[in-house]
Amino acid sequence: IDLLIVTGGPGSEHDVSLASAASATTHLDAARYRVTTVILDRAGRWCDASGTPLPRRMEDLVRLIQRADVVLPLMHGKVGEDGSLAAVLDACGTPYVGSGVRAGAVAIDKHLMKLLASDAGIPVAAGVLVDGREVSPPFDPPMFIKPNTEGSSYGIQRVSMVEDFAAAVAEAAAFDPRVLVEKEIVGREIDIAVLQMPDGTLRVGPPLEIIVEAGGFFGTAEKYDGGATFLVPASIPDKAAIRLRDHAEKLFRLLGCAGVARFDFFLTDDGGLVLNEVNTAPGMTAASQVPRMFDADGLPYPRLLDTLIDTAMA
Ligand code: DAL
Ligand code: MG
Repeated sequence: IDLLIVTGGPGSEHDVSLASAASATTHLDAARYRVTTVILDRAGRWCDASGTPLPRRMEDLVRLIQRADVVLPLMHGKVGEDGSLAAVLDACGTPYVGSGVRAGAVAIDKHLMKLLASDAGIPVAAGVLVDGREVSPPFDPPMFIKPNTEGSSYGIQRVSMVEDFAAAVAEAAAFDPRVLVEKEIVGREIDIAVLQMPDGTLRVGPPLEIIVEAGGFFGTAEKYDGGATFLVPASIPDKAAIRLRDHAEKLFRLLGCAGVARFDFFLTDDGGLVLNEVNTAPGMTAASQVPRMFDADGLPYPRLLDTLIDTAMA
């Protein structure tokens, strides 16, 4: 199978994307796949695996895509996760792993995603969108200030004092001019993932709990520099586990996701589940949440990759 991996990207998650691609490449069955890699560098140039720009830019990219049997996008955040890359792949007509334009474009927009989820009866944190010049907090702290469309927690801050509000908003606005201000949800962080099988059925992985060192939240540093551990399967009450599965399946279908998507929730002390956010291009290193969940469920990482590719080609 001629497989094209597309990675990198112009956004802050460039290196995270490269890590997903590197890990996938080492775990793909070499007897089954002939892998070509194309990297979108930070300056927006499409490059080969060695980082050399493709001489005819998009023309070369389109040729690589159309020559492949299937494309495996491993690009988080901008371009890769927001529907832009999916649009190019759709236009090329080559099958690809993961969600299409609409699911990506909707899910990357945290505020819009929350409106959809609450419309479907899934609780979300109270929040409002502001622009980068906003100086008056819409409610009392503690609150989280987030770029509305970012991944890996870049630009996210917890604000516990009103005086810190304006600076946090300005900082988040450097990532996205639309800034989401959310009431803090106190609870355990529980992720769940849904995998589409080649026959179209959905397989929900076991819930995973993120344990963050005291005083912190699961921010960029905790994600990539240590300070957080994963517990899978998470030890949560059966009732919560069943509701979590239902919510995840419902969201996957509602968005029209494909491949695999990860849904991040909070489990509050009173047993409530609150949706934090949706990732249609979740981290895919062997140590990331999604591969860990399915590995714990009897689907090791190389077989997870096979499943994603088989589903894309089915
Ligand atoms: N945005 C990162 C890659 C994740 O959700 O895993
Ligand atoms: Mg995310």
